Amino acid sequence: MSYFDETQLNLDKEEPIILGIESSCDETAAAVIKGRKILSDEIASSATVQAKFGGVVPEIASRAHTDEVEKVVLRAVKNAGITLQDIDAIAVTYGAGLLGALLVGVSFAKALAYALKKPLIAVNHIRGHISAAYLDSASLKPPFVTLLASGGHTAVLYSETEAQFEILGATLDDAAGEAFDKVARVLGLQYPGGPNIGRLALEGQPTVAMPKMFKGSGGYNFTYSGLKTAVINYCHTKDQKGEPYSKADVAASFQCAAVDVLVKKTIGAAEEKGVKTITVGGGVAANDYLRTSLAKECKKRGFTLVLPEKRYCTDNAAMIAAEGLVQYRLGNFADMSLTAKASIPLAATLVTPQSKRRKVD
Ligand code: KG4
Ligand code: ZN
Repeated sequence: MSYFDETQLNLDKEEPIILGIESSCDETAAAVIKGRKILSDEIASSATVQAKFGGVVPEIASRAHTDEVEKVVLRAVKNAGITLQDIDAIAVTYGAGLLGALLVGVSFAKALAYALKKPLIAVNHIRGHISAAYLDSASLKPPFVTLLASGGHTAVLYSETEAQFEILGATLDDAAGEAFDKVARVLGLQYPGGPNIGRLALEGQPTVAMPKMFKGSGGYNFTYSGLKTAVINYCHTKDQKGEPYSKADVAASFQCAAVDVLVKKTIGAAEEKGVKTITVGGGVAANDYLRTSLAKECKKRGFTLVLPEKRYCTDNAAMIAAEGLVQYRLGNFADMSLTAKASIPLAATLVTPQSKRRKVD
């Protein structure tokens, strides 16, 4: 017997109401969408506490999620102007991320789904970043190429349908966001490093030589560890010799090297695949230099660029609800055995016996 009321289920409902819950890292987030419209979007972050430690401390994140999850979810429901009973499905991030942090969201979502007799949807966090673009453009439809650049992943993807994507290339070592965070630390900037590097780069010039970034080679793969090491070595050598240097110039040079290769490969992938639409997702997609560079290159070629607002590039729950909508249409529901997974493949989708899975293009 199903835990949810199957008589109430209508997979073809025009604008299902989905509650999204996200707790994979240091943000406790909940959002409600109706179709592709965002009705509410709440975030409680432990980033200011984490900044004192120079990164995310898993135990602090888990405790903060436990304190916040119920408040954030109830606020999202209230601000959406709905009641809990109006929800058609509950989507929750089940991986990848910090295990303890994920467990808080998954346990809460399971309990809520069971109590309300509503279907539960297990969402891969990375698929959430990709689906954020659907909330930005009501008319967005595959095929398109996505640049995914977050703290844990960097990849160029080709989506042929809403439910399937092909990984054209990915980082062979560090993720772009990880490189931003590590370089920020060397420059004495606080976590999360990306936005702080972006701000400092505005005061500098890209005059410091950086390593070649696989621009014309490596297919659509990336490597960031050499770039990170080059910046660390540059700063340490200058410090050891007592030579002054401009941190703003280092930030600007690093940012150009890190971003130019992302733009070049994303455009190259779209050209090769013959698609005219590019979307972006992940925290690094909030970078102003990346946003303007990609917009310029897309404009030159007559490509449509779907650039979600910055808050929907970094971690949020609306994107989890958006991917929840994709899985809802497929009838892909989780069961009460759902558990959190610290690591899952980039393209993973959980399919359970509970699933009413059907094929939708
Ligand atoms: O997608 P996200 O919020 O979380 C993960 O799923 O990893 O990405 C976080 C990453 C961090 O490494 C952060 O430094 C980077 O995104 N980031 C940025 C910017 N905002 C966040 N990197 C460059 N420029 C930004 N404005
Ligand atoms: Zn993320």
